[in-house]
Amino acid sequence: MSKKRVLTGDRPTGRLHLGHYVGSLKNRVAMQDEYEQFVMIADVQALTDNAQNPEKVRSAVNEVMLDYLSVGLDPAKTIFFIQSTIPEIAELTIFFLNLVTVSRLEQNPTVKTEIRDKGYERNIPAGFLVYPVSQAADILIVRPDVVPVGEDQSPMIEQTNEIVERFNNYYPAEPSVFKRVQARVPQGGAARLPGIDGVSKASKSLNNAIYLSDSPEDVRKKVNDMYTDPTHIKKEDPGHIEGNVVFSYLDLFDEDQTELAQLKESYTKGGVGDTEVKERLVNVLEKFLAPIRARRAEFERKPEALQTILRNGGARVRAEAAETMRLVRRAMKIDYF
Ligand code: TRP
Repeated sequence: MSKKRVLTGDRPTGRLHLGHYVGSLKNRVAMQDEYEQFVMIADVQALTDNAQNPEKVRSAVNEVMLDYLSVGLDPAKTIFFIQSTIPEIAELTIFFLNLVTVSRLEQNPTVKTEIRDKGYERNIPAGFLVYPVSQAADILIVRPDVVPVGEDQSPMIEQTNEIVERFNNYYPAEPSVFKRVQARVPQGGAARLPGIDGVSKASKSLNNAIYLSDSPEDVRKKVNDMYTDPTHIKKEDPGHIEGNVVFSYLDLFDEDQTELAQLKESYTKGGVGDTEVKERLVNVLEKFLAPIRARRAEFERKPEALQTILRNGGARVRAEAAETMRLVRRAMKIDYF
């Protein structure tokens, strides 16, 4: 039996942080053994709201690729590629745009939030408004079975499946050119990692995240700045675990959950200071990040290796894309010669 195919991707707009690790990278590392896994660096999508900032996107492509390799995504198992190296995605986007209405795009909850946050209103770049369509093409170009995404991306998968239905309806073929894809959204604690401020989830724009490439000094400083329990003033005061960012991180990264459970109990009763808990987290994170940093440094020394991985991945995807477009053209009756 052949392996099921999965595709995921990230917008290259900066380095990746622990929130990305918990919400997706960890899962990708686990999936690469069982699935045929494609990971796309979505530079075209990043440019939809960074058109005047090509240097930022270019350098982030490199950073994101280093982040992937540093956490143990393995080019022998996972196929990495850059979106703009697959021109068939742009071609497929053009055909998909006929299957979607402007009002439907304006109702996309993720895009709606982004429009509000960026203050675009009617000045939204047209390319940004239609990026969900381009994302459907990113996905469908390799005709995957599963698309693991964060909660905020579910509307994109819904949109993709609407396009699948409409395409197959307008352009029937036997078998259908596309099949519906299955979203896989992380559940429970893995769904979101809080930022160090404890106000919202870890995010680059809020400047509240610990990066996979942060130095030991950065990590220590950020852990010291973490929001804990404002009612836990003196060491003897009873403390709260719920909403305490240090414990949220320990829950996800501490390898000794038994000892952690005991620590939580003592903290709740009173008698454990924040300094002690933070010191534990610094050590836990160092243990986690040290090998990641080492692997990153190794790949930083060989930029040609990164280029080769991305070039080979791109070639592999273009072969898939050519077959997809052959089927698309035939179904759309534009296979002239
Ligand atoms: N929109 C996704 C994000 O912001 C990135 C992305 C682009 C993507 N193309 C994709 C994710 C295809 C999954 C599949 O995180």
